[in-house]
Amino acid sequence: TLPSSMAPLWPLVLVAASGILAIDTPHPRSSALHHLTEKLLQKYRKEVRPVHNGTQATTVYLDVFVRAVLDVDAQNQKLTTSVWYHEVWDDEFLSWNSSMFDEIREISLPLSAIWAPDIIINEFVDLERSPDLPYVYVNSSGTIKHSKPIQLVSACSLETYAFPFDIQNCSLTFNSILHTVEDVDLAFLRSREDMTHDQKAFLNDGEWELLSVSSTYNILQSSAGDFAQIQFNVVIRRRPLVYVVSLLIPSIFLMLVDLGSFYIPPTCHARIVFKTSVLVGYTVFRLNISDEVPKSAVTTPLIGVFFTVCMAFLVLSLSKSILLVKFLHDEQCSRREWTFLCLRGDTDAEGSRMDPWAQLTGVTESPICQEHQAQPWTLREVWSQLQRISSYFQTQDQADRQEAGWLALLERFDRLLFQSYLVVLGFYTITLCSLWVLWSGL
Ligand SMILES: *[C@@H]1O[C@H](CO)[C@@H](O)[C@H](O)[C@H]1NC(C)=O
Ligand SMILES: *[C@@H]1O[C@H](CO)[C@@H](O)[C@H](O)[C@H]1NC(C)=O
Ligand SMILES: *[C@@H]1O[C@H](CO)[C@@H](O)[C@H](O)[C@H]1NC(C)=O
Ligand SMILES: *[C@@H]1O[C@H](CO)[C@@H](O)[C@H](O)[C@H]1NC(C)=O
Repeated sequence: TLPSSMAPLWPLVLVAASGILAIDTPHPRSSALHHLTEKLLQKYRKEVRPVHNGTQATTVYLDVFVRAVLDVDAQNQKLTTSVWYHEVWDDEFLSWNSSMFDEIREISLPLSAIWAPDIIINEFVDLERSPDLPYVYVNSSGTIKHSKPIQLVSACSLETYAFPFDIQNCSLTFNSILHTVEDVDLAFLRSREDMTHDQKAFLNDGEWELLSVSSTYNILQSSAGDFAQIQFNVVIRRRPLVYVVSLLIPSIFLMLVDLGSFYIPPTCHARIVFKTSVLVGYTVFRLNISDEVPKSAVTTPLIGVFFTVCMAFLVLSLSKSILLVKFLHDEQCSRREWTFLCLRGDTDAEGSRMDPWAQLTGVTESPICQEHQAQPWTLREVWSQLQRISSYFQTQDQADRQEAGWLALLERFDRLLFQSYLVVLGFYTITLCSLWVLWSGL
């Protein structure tokens, strides 16, 4: 019966216990913090630049860590990066004597309650996305630290000529949008050497590799006044291996296959079929990869030229094969026609005494007519037959020789094409390899 009678009393017991605990636990820090915050913000006006002497500039120290390259859009000349951005400045109205406030050295204050510099990135072309971080840290000497991650879409002049061995140099320029250098000055938070080669924050597993982040300070002179500005040059390099494997090597393989087709005899019709299939294969390959090659309005990537030249070679070698077959075909036809005409011309010239019937049916088979002829006629007939046969073989021989000449010419052309094929392929291979070595050694 004891638990059931105690049950309604439990909340009371708990409240009493917590009351006792609250009274027992001292809260000096929390009250000091409260007191300090109230004291700092009581007479604070966030509209006023926080300096006692208005002629003195507020110096804002900047730092940028490039964390990742999210997208490189060559067609729209846009670079999307994720950066960690730090700002530090002194607020002369937000300092306190820490020994008077329980040794509190740092407090956080809402960003919306204090003055903050209006620094923008000049190159931004799209809304930068960053989480709304509501607080900044202030230490007892009035130094304010503000940092935030930013996903930044910036305009950048992207060069794709050397794709996939390209190196991009994009700048991020920070300056105050309104305040001249007399009011707001900029400076570096870290030494510039540290900044240039610091890649600790960079996620190094993507397509792009961070080479350096160099920075410069300069003063921009304009009609509205002189503005301090800090420029970070983010230099990134593409990792080419995936493109070499998926673009260059298949293309070279197709070219080698086409090169192999030169071993099929030029007169063989299968060669045309073979070359056509290689050409179709190449077209399908190019359609497949068209998304991977960056499109740029200004310059065509060298690799695009390479593909086009490869295609031109395939077309050239196919048309050459077609021409060759057509030549051969024409040759055979004209030879047949020509020898037939020759034969008929001979017959007309010599056999004018023969009746048309004999001419039409052929000389050997006119037994009815020949029965009436005298013996000498038959001999003469045989003689002329022999002559005709010999002349037929002569013309045949001549045609054969002519055809052999044609064939030799075409074979020479074939060999020439083969050699220029080899030269161009070798040239491209050497160029690409040397470019690769050159740019990866940078
Ligand atoms: C403000 O600073 C300038 C130079 O920094 C100095 O010449 C001037 O006397 C200062 N004014 C006051 C009121 O302290
Ligand atoms: C801070 O306050 C302590 C005690 O109130 C005092 O002794 C000290 O001089 C003060 N320091 C400054 C920099 O005002
Ligand atoms: C406040 O922070 C700045 C910059 O980090 C530093 O130089 C200064 O000594 C700090 N002040 C105190 C009281 O810790
Ligand atoms: C990047 O471009 C800036 C000027 O836009 C130049 O000063 C800097 O040397 C370039 N960096 C590299 C590595 O080319």
